[in-house]
Amino acid sequence: MAQYKAIAAVSTNGVIGKKGALPWRIPGELKWFKKITMGHIIVMGRKTWDSLPGPLPGRENWILSRTDFSAKSCRTFTSFDQIENEAGSRTVFIIGGGEVYSRFLKKCKEIFITEVQQSIKDGDAFFPPFRNEFECIEKLEENEQFTIGRWTRKMKEVKNQ
Ligand SMILES: NC(=O)c1ccc[n+]([C@@H]2O[C@H](COP(=O)([O-])OP(=O)(O)OC[C@H]3O[C@@H](n4cnc5c(N)ncnc54)[C@H](OP(=O)(O)O)[C@@H]3O)[C@@H](O)[C@H]2O)c1
Repeated sequence: MAQYKAIAAVSTNGVIGKKGALPWRIPGELKWFKKITMGHIIVMGRKTWDSLPGPLPGRENWILSRTDFSAKSCRTFTSFDQIENEAGSRTVFIIGGGEVYSRFLKKCKEIFITEVQQSIKDGDAFFPPFRNEFECIEKLEENEQFTIGRWTRKMKEVKNQ
């Protein structure tokens, strides 16, 4: 079975996007994103695809769309079931955006969250609530602009019968 991981950069008020783009430009964060996703499958929604200049190099760009959308050098899928059938036992990074995270975060045991130290006004794409389900087990980078954390799914409490 494939290993699904999500990766996102999230503002202090939960925003990930505004008007079809990232609300910030943080080169150090993009560098991290490139490093960790390199060589893997990246799955994105069609709207996130629209925000990119083209396929992200060195990664298999898989795009979810409910239409017959197609894009050069990418694979397109109309359902997550199709992705699961094709991914085999590989590592799959779910890279957004808001709709795709909210639908498929449940597939992920591990997520990489960059907490961006900004509050974004008028954001229109959001990361779903995750703090109750996941715990931060490692801080990978911390600076004035952002903190990168590795979060894993909390173990469920076994209740006494
Ligand atoms: N901060 C971050 O880490 C980060 C990361 C990624 C993106 N973003 C931002 O997030 C925003 C985009 O997010 P969004 O929520 O508007 O859109 P999105 O999740 O990128 O894409 C939504 C589209 O994906 C397709 N889709 C979603 N669920 C599907 C399913 N179950 N089966 C088949 N297709 C499915 C549909 O495409 P069709 O309409 O073609 O059917 C849908 O309209 C942008 O502002 C982007 O910059 C931020």
